[in-house]
Amino acid sequence: MDEINRIKQLKDERNAIILAHNYQRGDVQDAADFVGDSFGLSRAAVSSGADIIVFCGVDFMAESAAVLNPEKTVLMPELNAQCPMAGMITPESLKLEKEKHPDAAVVCYVNTSAAVKAESDVCCTSANAVKVVNSMEEGEIIFVPDRNLALYVAANTKKKIIPWNGYCPTHHLILPGDILLEKEEHPQAEILVHPECRPEVVALADKVLSTSGMLKYAAQSESKEFIIGTEVGLLHRLNRENPGKRFIPATKYAVCPNMKMNTLGSIIRALERNEHIIKVPEDIRRKAKLSLDKMLEMGRGD
Ligand code: 13P
Ligand code: SF4
Repeated sequence: MDEINRIKQLKDERNAIILAHNYQRGDVQDAADFVGDSFGLSRAAVSSGADIIVFCGVDFMAESAAVLNPEKTVLMPELNAQCPMAGMITPESLKLEKEKHPDAAVVCYVNTSAAVKAESDVCCTSANAVKVVNSMEEGEIIFVPDRNLALYVAANTKKKIIPWNGYCPTHHLILPGDILLEKEEHPQAEILVHPECRPEVVALADKVLSTSGMLKYAAQSESKEFIIGTEVGLLHRLNRENPGKRFIPATKYAVCPNMKMNTLGSIIRALERNEHIIKVPEDIRRKAKLSLDKMLEMGRGD
């Protein structure tokens, strides 16, 4: 039996679904029941009737699914698929920052551990960061851990933003020169970039969007060419869903090695061996769920 059919068989036997992020390998995306951005995946995890969720993404995504669904089994096929940005803040360091700014609210990007979410007032994703910040009563916001997303939000809100100094190593590989070079070759192309990019790259964009925001925008735009400033895995869906249009990666080097760890083989192993189960201690889970629930209630902003 080939890998795809074995996965189908195991999913039926175990009442499992596969959720995959837009940056996963193409064959993993094709094997998934739902492919989306961080916001869409959190929502899909809650609405599914499955007993088992196989999460093909990185650590904080599987952890969020476990926080939101304590009654389901959440499996992460590759435990080493960890987001380095999420590792750039700890709950202890956030507590110290809160002491320095006692009047500020804390908005955490979804790319954080459950323990950091538990120390935050609300969570956000790239699809709703500005909307979430604007919804807060406080005038001062500690925004963690992505400095670039914090600066993007600061440019689009009247609130005072106190950024954390984290960043995504993959999006940092996209440089203004890459965009300018492609724009010279494709002068008609629209430039779509992710807010995790450097501010100098964001400044060159026609649109700043989450990964699913880019998919939605590209599908309804009149343009035929787009320069894409995000992880290259998104081109799989962009190309498949828009056959008449051309998508040019800002740089082919923008690859997230962690997102690429999951394979069809590791999905099979996860379902056969029931591994690796993601569990969050109950006190942290409850508090982290409040932050995630508030974000889900607010909906998308892109
Ligand atoms: P979105 O797909 O939510 O835009 O996030 C990108 C990302 O880097 C997730 O790690
Ligand atoms: Fe983390 Fe960046 Fe990879 Fe997203 S692309 S999982 S932010 S390292």
